[in-house]
Amino acid sequence: MKIKKVAVLTSGGDSPGMNAGLRAVVRACAYHNLKCVGVFRGFEGLIEGDFKDLDARSVKNIINRGGTFLKSARSKGFFTKEGRQQAFNNLKKFEVDALVVIGGDGTFAGASVFNKEHDFPIVGLPGTIDNDINGTDYTIGYDTALNTVVEAIDKIRDTANSHNRLFLVEVMGRNAGDIALNAGIGAGAEEILIPEENLGKDRLLESLKRSKKSGKTSSIVVVAEGDQIGKNIFELAKYIEENLKEYEVRVTVLGHIQRGGAPSCFDRVLASRLGVGAIDALLRGERDVMIGIVHNKVTSVPFDEAIQGENELDTELIRVADITSV
Ligand code: F6P
Repeated sequence: MKIKKVAVLTSGGDSPGMNAGLRAVVRACAYHNLKCVGVFRGFEGLIEGDFKDLDARSVKNIINRGGTFLKSARSKGFFTKEGRQQAFNNLKKFEVDALVVIGGDGTFAGASVFNKEHDFPIVGLPGTIDNDINGTDYTIGYDTALNTVVEAIDKIRDTANSHNRLFLVEVMGRNAGDIALNAGIGAGAEEILIPEENLGKDRLLESLKRSKKSGKTSSIVVVAEGDQIGKNIFELAKYIEENLKEYEVRVTVLGHIQRGGAPSCFDRVLASRLGVGAIDALLRGERDVMIGIVHNKVTSVPFDEAIQGENELDTELIRVADITSV
């Protein structure tokens, strides 16, 4: 079937660069003479029929803005067959022929079920700060989040150093250590705790002891929110203070600050390339795929592959972190 009208939405946790991705999708539609419609609040808006026609000028002045002007949601309704049926009815009612979704693994899982149930053409763009999607080297928003974290830790370092303190800094990543590991290296962290590798409390204490001995006066430990021993970061801080009396420990939870702010140039370019790539893929007849970037080339992988586990963590990075923190 010839595609004449494309709907686009953002879903799941927002990420910086989603707006740039929307802009690219809308403008690629305009370029190829396709109609485009925006759907508000992700799959929720699809179920409710909250649609708005978009043209090339509708997306002016947003390339530099964080968040998503279409808003986002983690839809519960789309998990149900009835919700998906309602969404399909609305797409038919608005004469939409294809859908572009920007989000993370939850978004792609929903999109894949919907595609199989209704045989409706969908392509996805990876938009999440977590960088936890298979089949793409980078997700939209990850680079900006890394820079936000590094900037915050640089500030924490000033005060950590002035008071000879140990800071535990919690960053996002329920299941993925990409932010913690890369920001940890970039910010010169002492130790990095990630869900993919359980360091264990004893080894952490040993490492902190060693660094005191080696002459370090202050330390920064970056903790991914999903790490085994760092899950309750305040308890971990207490445990360290109880077992290493020489340490005065403070905790900073960076939280949602990591999801906001103007996207980095890297994320803007990535989102633009993937947005254009999404419309190219649809016009080539591809369906049920995520558009990603691998070795700096725009590529596509089936949704089922994209959500199959995560991008493998680079063990070389762990080695670099260990060596540069001696
Ligand atoms: O998936 C992106 C993410 O920011 C995770 O890193 C974090 O664990 C989660 O979303 C937080 O979700 P919410 O904003 O719904 O609390």
